[in-house]
Amino acid sequence: MTDLSRFVASERTRMLDELKAFLRIPSVSTTPEHTDDCRRAAEWLSNHLRNLGCGRVELLGGEHHPVVCAESTPAPGHPTIVVYGHYDVQPADPLALWRSPPFEPTERDGNLYARGATDDKGQVFAIIKAFEAVGANGGVPVNLRFLIEGQEESGSGVLFELLQHRPDLVRGDAVLVADMPYYAPGWPAVEVGLRGMVYAEITVRTLEGDLHSGLYGGVAPNAHETLVALLAKLKSPDGRIRIPGLYDAVAKPGKEEREAWKQLPFDEERYRREEVGAKALTGLARYSVFERLWALPTFEIHGITGGFTGVGAKTVIPAEATAKVSLRLVPDQRADTVVDQLMHAVASAAPPYADASVRILSKADPVLLDVGSAPFGLIDRAFQEVEGRRPVPIRSGGSIPVVPALAAGGAPVVMAGIGLPDDRLHAPNEKIALDQVFKGVRVFGRFFELMAGLE
Ligand code: BES
Ligand code: MN
Ligand code: MN
Repeated sequence: MTDLSRFVASERTRMLDELKAFLRIPSVSTTPEHTDDCRRAAEWLSNHLRNLGCGRVELLGGEHHPVVCAESTPAPGHPTIVVYGHYDVQPADPLALWRSPPFEPTERDGNLYARGATDDKGQVFAIIKAFEAVGANGGVPVNLRFLIEGQEESGSGVLFELLQHRPDLVRGDAVLVADMPYYAPGWPAVEVGLRGMVYAEITVRTLEGDLHSGLYGGVAPNAHETLVALLAKLKSPDGRIRIPGLYDAVAKPGKEEREAWKQLPFDEERYRREEVGAKALTGLARYSVFERLWALPTFEIHGITGGFTGVGAKTVIPAEATAKVSLRLVPDQRADTVVDQLMHAVASAAPPYADASVRILSKADPVLLDVGSAPFGLIDRAFQEVEGRRPVPIRSGGSIPVVPALAAGGAPVVMAGIGLPDDRLHAPNEKIALDQVFKGVRVFGRFFELMAGLE
């Protein structure tokens, strides 16, 4: 038994109690009602890190959704590892679908159920406990700098702003990001790519005010009809997005990468039935599922508001309608370029009698990492030792907006998480497998030891 396994075995119950306390704080960043709870989560983390011996612990970036910045006791001349994660969570609704309340962490069959269990509190917690575990074993000569933000789910505004003034915060020898799942149970992964995004509201106005649909129906332009016709022009039924120029910058993954994706164990039928839960998979049929998820942009409609959606019937011609939409972006697209392309496409798809406008809610560039540097070899070895299998390099369809800024200081960004594909992040009954948390403590602890140059 290694020292790290011994630590995990003896401290398991206490660690679980601590993780539950962290998960009880409803630190939802997407609605103002929980701003104080986000602050409490930040304070919980800073107290915890202070108790573990971090000397410099600060809440940076202001009152609301501060970034927790904590540094371990300086080990001058030794490697620096920046640990990124987020303490904010998605809203818990729809509440009725949860088997146990989202902010009362509950154990069932080896899993811990709670909002944020896997995204990202459980994973952040595993790294913090890895730091504690190596400390309990006498410590290793590395400098850890925790940068745990509270706005990942709402665009990372505070952290972006902070890094503009403090580029020094991401300087180091590696940045560790654990905010993603394994490829499959027993199959760790290193993510080499993430998609970016542009999230927008498209609003169409066709009338000065709502009208009676009997008195004016047949002559007055309907805002909903105009909006859905416009949206339908932006994507064809075969899945091709009809925004001029959108695909120009899309980089086709290299042959080697595509070959590696083909080697991944994948049962498309099972995936369709059990994971997606649909009668068919859609999208550009001549590309594989992985290419569609990892290397092609998307255009999704999230919701349409306006007009009448209440109980019963109301005969109205709506004057205004709004759609919330997003595009996921892939290497080498740029969010700013796609914003312009979307604006132009909407303007030219709108009929002359309608006023169409686009409001951008958030944007993020995609990520593609070069995985040749030393830290990748070390995380590989840490997983091999703990899990008995080397991580597979994959991409992910999800987004973490701040990753390009974390890479800006030149330190290699290692993205390797401990979630599982069925963790249901953002959905009811989110969970993390407890074994994954404790394996994570050992993997990340071993990574710190290896980074320190210890064998
Ligand atoms: N951790 C996820 C992103 C993720 C999930 C990356 C799985 C890789 C694998 C993150 O918390 C998230 O949900 N991001 C949002 C970003 C958005 C709100 C700007 C997303 O992808 O929708
Ligand atoms: Mn996350
Ligand atoms: Mn998330």
